[in-house]
Amino acid sequence: MTFLLALQGWEHGGWVDAFRTNMPGREVVLHTDDFDKNAVTYACAWQPPEGIFQGLPNLKAIFSLGAGVDSLLKDKTLPDVPIVRSVSENLTGRMTEYVCQHVLMHHRRHRLYDAQQKERLWREHAQPAAADVRVGIMGLGVLGQDAAEKLVAIGFDVAGWSRSAKAVPNVECFAGEDGLGPFLARTDILVVLLPHTPDTEGMLTYELFSSLARDGALPDDFPVLINAGRGKLQVEADILKALGDGTLKGASLDVFETEPLGAESKLWAHPLVTITPHIAAESDPTALTRYIAEQIRAHERGAPLRNVVDRARGY
Ligand code: NDP
Ligand code: OXD
Repeated sequence: MTFLLALQGWEHGGWVDAFRTNMPGREVVLHTDDFDKNAVTYACAWQPPEGIFQGLPNLKAIFSLGAGVDSLLKDKTLPDVPIVRSVSENLTGRMTEYVCQHVLMHHRRHRLYDAQQKERLWREHAQPAAADVRVGIMGLGVLGQDAAEKLVAIGFDVAGWSRSAKAVPNVECFAGEDGLGPFLARTDILVVLLPHTPDTEGMLTYELFSSLARDGALPDDFPVLINAGRGKLQVEADILKALGDGTLKGASLDVFETEPLGAESKLWAHPLVTITPHIAAESDPTALTRYIAEQIRAHERGAPLRNVVDRARGY
């Protein structure tokens, strides 16, 4: 009964301690340790090295420490066991904080007032009410729906776009290729909470930005892009082009084509761009190890695993 932890890019310490606390009686090993491969029954990963799950004959499931599983699924040698992604109130709440923070930052023209403060300039600007501002969320899954609900509570006019049709209270729902055009045409603040899959890769292009609304309550400030989904969705050269010619009036980016974002990127110093280093929703060791430990206990009692990824869809 060994639990294998394969983490790259994150500190191991807190995770190992949290797993040992929440899974008493189970040996917790790192992929870099010397361990008995026959004893591994469950594994857990974030950006694991390719091929790490091969040769584990008793493996029953792999848990992703992230909500997104793109870094796991790109390993073409993954064994045919269920892949379970992270879904937790803790993670969802953090993402909703990020989304609300950045929607409000653009809506309340915070970058403009920041710039004015540096100049010691006392100047008021028109401020529409949230009800007059249209937020569009790409991805109406666990994260998108929670963000939508909280933005509706603040008063924004919210729409969402997903692969399959949805009904979310007080949210105008669009779906599929046919729904994308009308969704973009009514969006002042575009929030991206989509997974990285073959279908979504590179979809945030200049052409897509050109389809956003141009008749918003703040024509000088909208439309804007907020991407906290995955960086591989965005074409960064197109974001820069769109910001350069006014097709986009601002961008909040938490994720990038290549992470960490290289020091040479023009995005860093762009006056209309707000950058965070993929921290929109951190995976919390206590919350997520409890979630995984509880799933393993239930699975060993015969219950089905929850939040299993559909490998064909890629999320
Ligand atoms: P879910 O799987 O719950 O939701 C994904 C949503 O995207 C669904 O609504 C799905 O549609 C939609 N979708 C997927 N593919 C397409 C497509 N081709 N066209 C239209 N819609 C599509 O995921 P979560 O909400 O939990 O997480 C979303 C993503 O957020 C993660 O995959 C991850 O990449 C990112 N993330 C980023 C974090 C950060 O710190 N920056 C932290 C956590 C997550 P449908 O409902 O029809 O299936
Ligand atoms: C995630 C992430 O997918 O942290 O959870 O990006």
